[in-house]
Amino acid sequence: MELEAFLRALPKAELHLHIEGSLEPEMMFALAQRNGVPLPWPSVEATRAAYAFTDLQSFLDLYYAGAAALIHEADFFDLAMAYFHRAAADGVVHAELFFDPQTHTARGVAYTTVLDGLERACRTAQADLGVSSRLILCFLRHLSEDDAFATLAEAEPHLSRIHGVGLDSSEQGHPPSKFARVFARCRELGLHVVAHAGEEGPPAYIWEALDLLKVERIDHGVRAAEDADLMARLAKEGTPLTVCPLSNVKLCVFKQLKDHNLAQLLRAGIKVTINSDDPAYFGGYVLQNYLETAQALQLSRDELVQIARNSLEASFVSDAERAPWLARLEAVAASA
Ligand code: HPA
Ligand code: ZN
Repeated sequence: MELEAFLRALPKAELHLHIEGSLEPEMMFALAQRNGVPLPWPSVEATRAAYAFTDLQSFLDLYYAGAAALIHEADFFDLAMAYFHRAAADGVVHAELFFDPQTHTARGVAYTTVLDGLERACRTAQADLGVSSRLILCFLRHLSEDDAFATLAEAEPHLSRIHGVGLDSSEQGHPPSKFARVFARCRELGLHVVAHAGEEGPPAYIWEALDLLKVERIDHGVRAAEDADLMARLAKEGTPLTVCPLSNVKLCVFKQLKDHNLAQLLRAGIKVTINSDDPAYFGGYVLQNYLETAQALQLSRDELVQIARNSLEASFVSDAERAPWLARLEAVAASA
């Protein structure tokens, strides 16, 4: 089987996807017009041309500006449905979507407006596309822990509607330790916990995410490669990393895809997965990430199957939900 068809046929879970980062400029303009919201760019073309990032912050500034177009329940529904259609076409069977409530509540959009729209899309994706999903609420780490606690208080009356919490936004200068108390509370409430760490931040932030936040997965985590003890621990404990190769190149974490350390992490026995992060901004959905990474790093078919298997194993679904996907994955692997 040709590589792209093989990668599409593999059942995959996407575990690192910011739904606000799937807002394509065309939809951004359509929503901004519908809602009477001004955007900082004159056209779709100018918007795309502005996507020349030098680091995480240069991206986040545009990402938050674009998110201002999202106001109504239907906007969040449309946004997530557009993502689910792309995901289904890429062979994604399950997606765990990050959303950033503080980006919206700070503009006067109610938490329940965001949640209602996303949740309706999750139900529709299951019914119409056969794609399963979960929602993970991310706290913005450039804001205070008190602000995170206030967000959790808003979420608490609807807690069963989310599956976990994460930590995103500007990493440098905002270590996981800043959120130790709110994460402890989230764990008490029975939520799954993940955090971005080691994208731009040092290996020490990954240690903190593991030891202080007690996360079940590390989002990005690529800077673990600078610390042999940390690499050994991640491998031994089977902690999944949700790696986003095209994102890392766009945000200058690696100069080019062939310099990416994903193969090194994988060959050290770490449970690596491939994800798209903010596909509308970084130039590719999950299949494109698999394909370009496979080619740039010359990953073997066995390694690609292992990465897809890792994504299913690292997802927060029950064994009963996972079993048919794993069976299909092994069948595709055997037939290739
Ligand atoms: N890193 C941190 N915060 C984010 C990202 C990311 O890659 N995408 C959206 N928010
Ligand atoms: Zn991310």
